[in-house]
Amino acid sequence: MASFSLVKRAFSSTSCRHTIKNVTVIGGGLMGSGIAQIAAQSGNQVTLVEVNPELLKKAETSIVTNLSRVAKKVYKDDTAAIQKYVEEAKSRIQGSTNPSTAVSDADLVVEAIVENLEVKHKLFKALDEAAPAKTLFASNTSSLSIGEIASVVNRKDRFGGLHFFNPVPVMKLLEIVKIPEQSEETYQAFLAWGKSVGKTCVTCKDTPGFIVNRLLVPYLAEAIRMLERGDASPRDIDTAMKLGAGHPMGPVELADYVGHDTTNSILEGWHKKYPDNPLFVPCDSTKELVRQKKLGVKTGEGYYKYNNLKYWLENKSKTVSNKEEWRRQYKLWKFKMKKQRNKDLPLFT
Ligand SMILES: NC(=O)c1ccc[n+]([C@@H]2O[C@H](COP(=O)([O-])OP(=O)(O)OC[C@H]3O[C@@H](n4cnc5c(N)ncnc54)[C@H](O)[C@@H]3O)[C@@H](O)[C@H]2O)c1
Repeated sequence: MASFSLVKRAFSSTSCRHTIKNVTVIGGGLMGSGIAQIAAQSGNQVTLVEVNPELLKKAETSIVTNLSRVAKKVYKDDTAAIQKYVEEAKSRIQGSTNPSTAVSDADLVVEAIVENLEVKHKLFKALDEAAPAKTLFASNTSSLSIGEIASVVNRKDRFGGLHFFNPVPVMKLLEIVKIPEQSEETYQAFLAWGKSVGKTCVTCKDTPGFIVNRLLVPYLAEAIRMLERGDASPRDIDTAMKLGAGHPMGPVELADYVGHDTTNSILEGWHKKYPDNPLFVPCDSTKELVRQKKLGVKTGEGYYKYNNLKYWLENKSKTVSNKEEWRRQYKLWKFKMKKQRNKDLPLFT
């Protein structure tokens, strides 16, 4: 039902002067494809930009799979209605490999490309020249400064952070990041658009990690420092925070879930910029796990092991009904885990 109400909300008028209808999303990876999906679900015309047609196709497949999932929840067994919903949302998304032409009529550009300041600068410089004056620019960066990203454009009054959370269609929060030059009109337009795509918006200054990651990343690091000192075992730290603080996951398992490449690169970036802040010091054991490509759940091992039978039985085997299929799936999964570990995984960007 949630997604249905998203559609309805999208067509209600907003009170701010800058109404967003055409959205260009740059980067069709994990975050960009989710942002494109919720924008299209909410009635926006979306242009999704990737570096090549193969990656565009991959993003499209992922969006269609997710849209079908949403539609099945709403329409149950009504296959015609499911198909109609998916087709309609899909028809609002077009792909492009040319960022400059893709922004020619955009009301809003949301950038979700690699986490690299130089690459983002190059992109925004080109977009600033190509986009009309009305276009608002936003970055979905997790750890870079919005002000630094915006430093290369002439439209700083129309620039801000729109920080979504993974998975975008599921997570309710949107952090709207202000920079001093941002106009009130831009801010109101971000806010209205965030609400129209079904998110609960919070606002903050351009501070490292914004709200969530500024609190979460040092907390995870502090838990890891605690186990590095031998103060308590990972299991006891996790149990303590679940039962003593009511958290759904403990910090060590959460760090495994987020991925050690992600948290380590965030901490390294902050530490370089703010060397005197003890909360931003990267953890030695995490660096070692990254070196060994033990990135957490996604590679089958981090502080805990996820590539064993016990993990499979608890988390992966639930949907498999017969024994033959169970064996086949388990073998496939073990193979996938092994392949992932052997692959030279790039650091999260
Ligand atoms: N993954 C998360 O949990 C998460 C959460 C919030 C924010 N973010 C931020 O979102 C951004 C994207 O992260 P992601 O996890 O989706 O990364 P990703 O690697 O899954 O996707 C990035 C995509 O951008 C594409 N790309 C790179 N350069 C491009 C260019 N010049 N033009 C068009 N496409 C380009 C790549 O081909 C890739 O498909 C980063 O800034 C990241 O910090 C990530």
